[in-house]
Amino acid sequence: VPAPDARAGSDRPTVIAHRGASAYAPENTLDAVDKAAELGVDWVENDVQRTKDGELVVVHDDNLRRTTDVEEVFPDRAPWKVKDFTAAEIARLDAGSWFDPAYADARVPTLKQFVDRVELHHQELLLEIKNPELYPGIEQQTLKVLDNEGWLDGPHLDGRLIVQSFSADSVRTVHELNPGVKTGLLGTPAVADLGRYAAFTDQINPSYGSISTSYVASVHAIEGAHGRPLEVFTWTVNDASTARLVAGYGVDGIITNTPDVVRDAFPTE
Ligand code: G3P
Ligand code: CA
Repeated sequence: VPAPDARAGSDRPTVIAHRGASAYAPENTLDAVDKAAELGVDWVENDVQRTKDGELVVVHDDNLRRTTDVEEVFPDRAPWKVKDFTAAEIARLDAGSWFDPAYADARVPTLKQFVDRVELHHQELLLEIKNPELYPGIEQQTLKVLDNEGWLDGPHLDGRLIVQSFSADSVRTVHELNPGVKTGLLGTPAVADLGRYAAFTDQINPSYGSISTSYVASVHAIEGAHGRPLEVFTWTVNDASTARLVAGYGVDGIITNTPDVVRDAFPTE
C-alpha cells in the first residue's frame, strides 16, 4: 500500500484516474478500476448518483443515454434519467459497447460494487457526489455505504478517501456528518471566498485551464478543515506537457483519463 500522501517528499503530483482509467476502458465501470490498477495507478475518481429505488450507482451523466444502451432496452422511457430507473433496470444495461464492443459485459456498478473493487486493488478513492440537488440525503447515504464497506475506519481516512462535489452545500454536509472524512470542493472559487470554504473542505479542485501559479499559492496559503494547507487536485489533464505545466503551478494532484501518460511525465530518476 502506497504512502497516504503520495506528494510528501516528492515534486510529482498524485495521479488520479478520472472515472477510472477512462481512456482505456469504459468510464466509471469496474473494468476502468481494474485498468487503473493494471497501470499501477493508486487513486481512482468516480461519480455517484441515485436510482429510483434508492440505490447509489456510479455514473457521470444525469441520464443513461451516452454511456449505456438504455434507448434500445427501454425505448419508451425518455429522457432516460438515472433517477427514473430502478437498480434492477440499470443492472440490465450494457455500459461498455458505446466505448468498445469488447466491453459489452460492463455494467453500471453500484457504489458498493465500485468501492469493493477499489479496495480489492488497495487503491485510494476520490468520490464525487454528482448532482446532489437531485438526490436529497445522498451525502448521508454515501457515508453509510462507505461505512458498511469498511471505508470509514482509520486507514482509509488517513489519506485514502476524499469526498468531493461541485456543490459547496453537499461538501459542507459531508463534513458535518463525519468531520473525519477528507473533502474537496470542485471548481475555482474566488480567492476572497476560500476562507469560508476552508472551514469544511481540505481541497479546492479546479479545471486546469482556470488556474495559475498565483492561484495555487493563494489556495495553499489557507488552512483547510483538518489544519493542513488546502490542497489542489486539478482536472482533466491528458498529456505530458500540460501535466508538467500544472505541476509547475504547484498542484498536489492531477486527475486524468490517461494516468500512465501523466505518471510518465515525471520520471522518478
Ligand atoms: O474530478 C474532477 C472532475 O471529474 C470533475 O468534472 O464532469 O468529469 O465530473 P466531471
Ligand atoms: Ca467527476
